[in-house]
Formats: sequence, structure tokens, C-alpha cells
Amino acid sequence: MKILMVCLGNICRSPLAEGILRKKTGMENTRIDSAGTGGWHAGEHPDKRAIETGKQFGVDISKLVARQFSVHDFDEFDRIFVMDRDNLRDVLSLARHDDDKRKVDLLLNADQPGSNRSVPDPYYGGDDGFVRVFKMIDEACTAIVKQIHQNS
Ligand code: 4NP
Repeated sequence: MKILMVCLGNICRSPLAEGILRKKTGMENTRIDSAGTGGWHAGEHPDKRAIETGKQFGVDISKLVARQFSVHDFDEFDRIFVMDRDNLRDVLSLARHDDDKRKVDLLLNADQPGSNRSVPDPYYGGDDGFVRVFKMIDEACTAIVKQIHQNS
């Protein structure tokens, strides 16, 4: 199973989602990556606050490097989880056909099916926003791992 996590900058939410899901899946046969719909932070490590929050919960994302989502990601990945509705719109705008579109869903629909809720963007907020975001992503990733086990 190949899973891509997507947010806007690829320096806050999606690197946390990548790190959290990697930790939960361990050595299983999965490939997990993350990307941003925007390219402004490409080549950078995650935001310091995201790194610190990950560290607090035992998830090391300090070595990850941001990159921009591209249409080729539809070929590379089985599932593409987006953090918010803007990401959803931007990723779907690059989809070439229904098979591409079917791979894409809001991350929080993994543990709250049909809720269509967004993971809030913590970039402009305080540190507590990052902890809240971490917990939301963590619960969704637990549900994803459960689904992987059910389907294998
Ligand atoms: P992310 O957060 O999408 O969770 O990585 C953001 C990072 C950077 C910006 C916005 C959101 N920015 O505007 O630079």
C-alpha cells in the first residue's frame, strides 16, 4: 500500500501525518510520503513547531524535506489523503480521470467517515494548535492502519 499525505506547505500537517503513519505501520509493506499543493517551502525541513510537537510524542520528522504535489503522484500512490478542503480542490483539479479522483479523500474521513472535516492549518497559530492537530492526525492514522490490516 502506497499512501501520500498532502497539505498546503508540506512543512506542518502532512509531514506530521507522514511521520505518524510511518511509526504506526512500522516495517510493514507500505510506502508513505507527503507533499504540498504549494511549492514555496520545497527543499525545506518541517516547521520547528511541527518538529517539536512530533518529538513530544515520539515521532521524528526532523529529516523530512518538503516537495510539491505533482500529477505523477496519482501514478505513484494508491491513496492520497488531503488535510483540508482547499487541498482537496487543488489536488482534484490535477486529476486526469476518475481513477485519479477515487484515490483522494480528506484525512479525517478515515476515522470520521463522511464528516468531510478539515485538519486546521496551524501555521499562523500558537503551539497548542500543533498539539491539537497532532491528535487529530494521530486518530485518523490509527483508523488507516486498521483498514490496511482488514484489507490484507
Ligand atoms: P501546512 O502549513 O500546509 O500544514 O504545511 C502551512 C505552511 C506554510 C504556509 C501555510 C500553511 N505558508 O503560507 O507559507
